[in-house]
Amino acid sequence: MIVISALAKQFAAPRVGWRLRRTQEPVRAVSEVSFDAPNGQITGLLGPNGAGKTTTLRMLAGLITPDAGQMVVDGIDVVRHPREAQARMGVLSDSRGLYPRLTARENIVYYGALQGMATEAAAERAEGLARMLDMTALLDRRTEGFSQGERMKTALARALVHDPANIVLDEPTNGLDVLATRALRDTLRFLRTPEGGAKCIVFSTHIMQEVERLCDNVVVVSHGRTVANGSVSQLLQQTGQSDFEQAFVQLAFPGEVAA
Ligand SMILES: Nc1ncnc2c1ncn2[C@@H]1O[C@H](COP(=O)(O)OP(=O)(O)OP(=O)(O)O)[C@@H](O)[C@H]1O
Ligand SMILES: [Mg+2]
Repeated sequence: MIVISALAKQFAAPRVGWRLRRTQEPVRAVSEVSFDAPNGQITGLLGPNGAGKTTTLRMLAGLITPDAGQMVVDGIDVVRHPREAQARMGVLSDSRGLYPRLTARENIVYYGALQGMATEAAAERAEGLARMLDMTALLDRRTEGFSQGERMKTALARALVHDPANIVLDEPTNGLDVLATRALRDTLRFLRTPEGGAKCIVFSTHIMQEVERLCDNVVVVSHGRTVANGSVSQLLQQTGQSDFEQAFVQLAFPGEVAA
């Protein structure tokens, strides 16, 4: 279970020559993001480009430190106990970040070892995940030259190798074809069930259909803030819309776009 409250992060503006230094404002990537992601549910972080989704998930993954706010994973504070918190999370970041000289299998097993797994257990798990993600044929190829979808599958298997209770995915369907998207959807649905471990799953996207099809909870993020939170039907009810895209536009861009 993941609980995020009043998270904030700003980035110093890059220097574009000394004369502009004083006029450049810092970028407020995240101003106040708060949400709860319970176990056995899929929580979708939905927001337009630049809303702060990736920044939020990078803070959760311990890749950058927040300026303010709190992130708690299974009762563990991410900032104060990063290692313990990371051990309970599987993270698919936006960059995917594979080692190009290693094979897919080596990437997955190596990450398992980093998480404290015995090599044999990690190797066995890599086989199982490869079957689940339909990527067995890829296992012994170096990831250098992998297509976007192949990289995503490898990175996803790597994120899941230590069987984390919490799964955090930044735009996981980016670059996936229709079959791979379906396979991912089925995988996430399975991981949500008691047999699949009743995982706490958080993923970011800007694809409405994905949210409608998968998410138990939707967290709408806009301009670095949580602006709405609820199930798809609750958000429809709240906005008085029958179409989820309309509801989203109304919530994410109040006053900016005609409904
Ligand atoms: N390292 C950084 N330095 C400066 N600005 C940054 C940095 N990282 C993010 N930002 C800015 O913070 C804001 C939020 O970015 P973020 O990547 O979190 O958005 P996002 O919701 O993931 O968008 P997208 O849907 O396009 O992936 C953007 O304005 C972005 O330019
Ligand atoms: Mg992003």
